[in-house]
Amino acid sequence: MIKKGIILAGGRGTRMSPLTKAVNKQLLPIYDKPLIFYPLSILMLANIKDILIIVNKGQLNQYKKILPNGNNLGIKITYLEQNKPRGLPDAFVIGEKFIGKENVAMILGDNFFYGQNLTTKLIENTRLNRGARVVLHKVSRPELFGVAKVNKNNKIISIKEKPKKYLSDLAITGLYFFDNKVVKYAKKLKPSKRGEVEIVDLLNFYRLEKQLSADLIGRGGAWLDTGSIEDFYKTSAFVSAIENRQGFKIACLEEIALNKKWVKKKQVQESIKFYGNCEYSNYLKKLIN
Ligand code: DAU
Repeated sequence: MIKKGIILAGGRGTRMSPLTKAVNKQLLPIYDKPLIFYPLSILMLANIKDILIIVNKGQLNQYKKILPNGNNLGIKITYLEQNKPRGLPDAFVIGEKFIGKENVAMILGDNFFYGQNLTTKLIENTRLNRGARVVLHKVSRPELFGVAKVNKNNKIISIKEKPKKYLSDLAITGLYFFDNKVVKYAKKLKPSKRGEVEIVDLLNFYRLEKQLSADLIGRGGAWLDTGSIEDFYKTSAFVSAIENRQGFKIACLEEIALNKKWVKKKQVQESIKFYGNCEYSNYLKKLIN
């Protein structure tokens, strides 16, 4: 059972400058809450309560203002800094002590998932004992992502980061499940031509040992990555449409914690005080009254 999770929320966010000059991308709003709430909600839905958030140097205080320690959510949040964006697998080197001898999940701070059966799938993936698992989703422009080619039995045959030549239309989303070997493998990686250690190189260690499996999100599920300003808008519009239609909030952290019985009403009242008089607090008030 995977009980630990990492949110990689550093990066320079250069593609979104000037918005990201003073504020890290993951603190910018997706409709009514900061982006970081969405990947955090995914780990919580997967029953992961011990969470390391990796932020870039100089941003720690800002993150702590919005997510101090997890107490009001019944989870434990630890922070570590990445002093420069050395690549996604760097998370496992930075997080070595946090991971210890356990298996671990990682989600990129800018990834958004939504859909029926998602929670069941997430929990299934945390049952991973050995190897690594990626979550795939069909996209119309695979050249923008890490891509996996699978055979009839959903076994991964090959993977490539942002392939110029068509390989498959299945993108590797930013949600990964690893056994403890990930730390050892991450330390072995050398930077690629673009000067970063690459997630596909890390995954390839597992693939060569026939230890890489795939979980597919079907067309009923949504996976959006908020890499550009345009994506930010589209994801915000998606959240706004669903929330206003249904009256439920997506990624309301206190609601997830309450449903899982990780917190009592009293802690939600603390959260309401913390957020102050706002629409999000009004939603929380409705949950506990
Ligand atoms: O979103 C899924 C895609 O994410 C995958 O399909 C790709 O295989 C994977 O490489 C990644 O591609 P991106 O081009 O989106 O990666 P990007 O450099 O934008 O980083 C993604 C997030 O991770 C972003 O929120 C910043 C953070 N990050 C990134 C790097 C390289 C860090 O915190 N530290 C880093 O060193």
